[in-house]
Amino acid sequence: MKHFNIAALAGDGIGPEVMREAIKVLRVTERKFGFALNITEAPVGWAGIDAAGKALPEATLALCKSSDSILFGSVGLPDRDPTIPKEERPERAALLRIRKEFGLFANLRPVKLPQALAHACPLAKERQGEGIDILVVRELTGGMYFGQPKKTDDLGAGVFRAIDTMVYTTPEIERIAHVAFQAARLRRKKLTSIDKANVLENGILWREVVTRVGKNYADVTLDHMFVDNGAMQLMLRPTQFDVMLCENMFGDILSDEAAALGGSLGMLPSASLGATNGGNTFGFYEPAGGTAPDIAGKNLANPIAQILSAALMLRHSFGLNEAAVAIESAVAKAINDGNRTGDIFSATESGAKRVGTHEMGDAITAAI
Ligand code: IPM
Ligand code: MG
Repeated sequence: MKHFNIAALAGDGIGPEVMREAIKVLRVTERKFGFALNITEAPVGWAGIDAAGKALPEATLALCKSSDSILFGSVGLPDRDPTIPKEERPERAALLRIRKEFGLFANLRPVKLPQALAHACPLAKERQGEGIDILVVRELTGGMYFGQPKKTDDLGAGVFRAIDTMVYTTPEIERIAHVAFQAARLRRKKLTSIDKANVLENGILWREVVTRVGKNYADVTLDHMFVDNGAMQLMLRPTQFDVMLCENMFGDILSDEAAALGGSLGMLPSASLGATNGGNTFGFYEPAGGTAPDIAGKNLANPIAQILSAALMLRHSFGLNEAAVAIESAVAKAINDGNRTGDIFSATESGAKRVGTHEMGDAITAAI
């Protein structure tokens, strides 16, 4: 029997309650498909600070290092974050640190609007065409998030100067471009590369390198789009996109925009992958939405992004594609059966029943 070790880091806000549902779904999938998951939970974010004084406690990091993958919830609490130095806050000290520590340069965010949720998409029906189905491939360990210098200078007389640095090297662009072209090959073979080549040095290099890498993928149609136009095209004609390749910051922004088109940020899973090592890909799987402290602990959060993130883990890190498809189909069934958390509920939709986090998890578990 295949055996996998998972570090489950639920984190803050809605993290623990959506993680609970994802683990429930993994447990039934494990029984049905006959593999064994050793799931160990550990604190991260404010939960880490409260338990061990650090957003990423040593024991949690050690657990991650000895695991085959990380299933992550979300971290950061806007109320508490300003009470500690910015380097110690959960986003930087846990999330960004893990991305860098494990070399997770490739972030995949698949956005798909289910037919049954057409009403939850902010765009008019005619703009939704045959359906919105976009994979955002975001570079995750470079660009402005990590470039040095990154600091705030005190210029005196109450004047401060904040500096972030956008930096990319050729190999960093090449490796993420390969990931995007390979993903496009398995989909509709269309890649749109996003940049700001009309203004940024980074944009010029990005475009040159992606074009060069594209010569190896003659079967994939490549086009380039400036990021401002890309943001607009997502609103006007989202069906033109198959795979969107973005640097770190642009991908952060456009993936939230794309997620809204998919019905709700609460439906967007993500996979963050490093280099493949002897056939195994260590991965970090998390919902793209945040901790949503306003609805935390109230059984209101949509657990689907967390559950779909678990499905991505089975597929990309464990090679269990059939089990991943079973989870994705179960999510589709729960939606088709009318189960709606608050974020995707509309009182005017016939046959819709408003459910909580647990009930959505139960409906998906029952459908496996
Ligand atoms: C995301 C989030 C993070 C990011 C934050 C929480 C640091 O917005 O994963 O998209 O900006 O990458
Ligand atoms: Mg984001």
